[in-house]
Amino acid sequence: MRNSVIDSRFSLRGKTALVTGGARGIGLQVALTLQEAGADIILTGRDGVRVAAAAGQFPVKPEVYQLDVRDSQSIRDLADGIAVCPDILINNAGVSRAAPTKYTTDEDWRAVLSVNLDGLFYCCRTFGSLMAERGSGVIVNISSMCGDVVTRQASVVTAYNASKAGVTMVTKTLACEWARSGVRVNAVAPGFIQSEMTNQYPIEVVRAWSDRTPMGRFGQPHEIASAVQFLASDASSYITGTVLLADGGYTCW
Ligand SMILES: NC(=O)c1ccc[n+]([C@@H]2O[C@H](COP(=O)([O-])OP(=O)(O)OC[C@H]3O[C@@H](n4cnc5c(N)ncnc54)[C@H](O)[C@@H]3O)[C@@H](O)[C@H]2O)c1
Repeated sequence: MRNSVIDSRFSLRGKTALVTGGARGIGLQVALTLQEAGADIILTGRDGVRVAAAAGQFPVKPEVYQLDVRDSQSIRDLADGIAVCPDILINNAGVSRAAPTKYTTDEDWRAVLSVNLDGLFYCCRTFGSLMAERGSGVIVNISSMCGDVVTRQASVVTAYNASKAGVTMVTKTLACEWARSGVRVNAVAPGFIQSEMTNQYPIEVVRAWSDRTPMGRFGQPHEIASAVQFLASDASSYITGTVLLADGGYTCW
């Protein structure tokens, strides 16, 4: 009896979850995990071919849409095009560009902010407003510990850090705005996670980052997905406006 109550709180059965940037990495793993927890998945990605290919990895084929989160009209069109507003929105799409500030161009700055902050806000605005009108919904934003701390021995990622700090305040502000409309808004802030985003760094940098992490290793995408599933489920029903760090202890030192 006790187990079934706990299981039902963590279950996403009967819910629909939309994931952005879902063709690979953390987004793909989140979508797979939410499906395993019972959710119907709407998998979206910037590259339509890649996201369609990723859909082949799911035990139950998700609905698939090409979606570039920088394009607010496409987000509105998607919301009009799908039959129901999703119960769960996972804002995962993100990019990083590293360069000393002196060599960071206007285009570099916009490239990062336009995905990580503008795109995330556009998705929240469209789907979160629909959720608030309906009176229910959950948003989980994928932030980063870089929204809170400057990592040591990293290449300079001013735009990335600024974008993720922005995600924290978007999360907290919308959590308050929609708290009485039945919509919870939270974020997960990963530390160093093995994915294509971090694969681009040389092995010495990866070793240094691992050494500076109390747990002594990078996290795996599934370790972020579990945190997302918790925040997406009724198990976190009294949690809103929080940023859950999943960083192997990095920010403790
Ligand atoms: N890997 C890490 O160490 C780490 C740490 C902290 C936070 N994060 C965050 O986790 C999220 C996922 O990153 P990842 O590690 O899986 O990297 P990744 O590069 O493998 O995945 C990023 C995904 O976002 C998609 N994307 C990029 N621009 C897009 C756009 N305009 N519209 C739609 N989708 C777009 C990419 O196509 C890709 O599928 C990002 O928000 C990233 O900032 C990653």
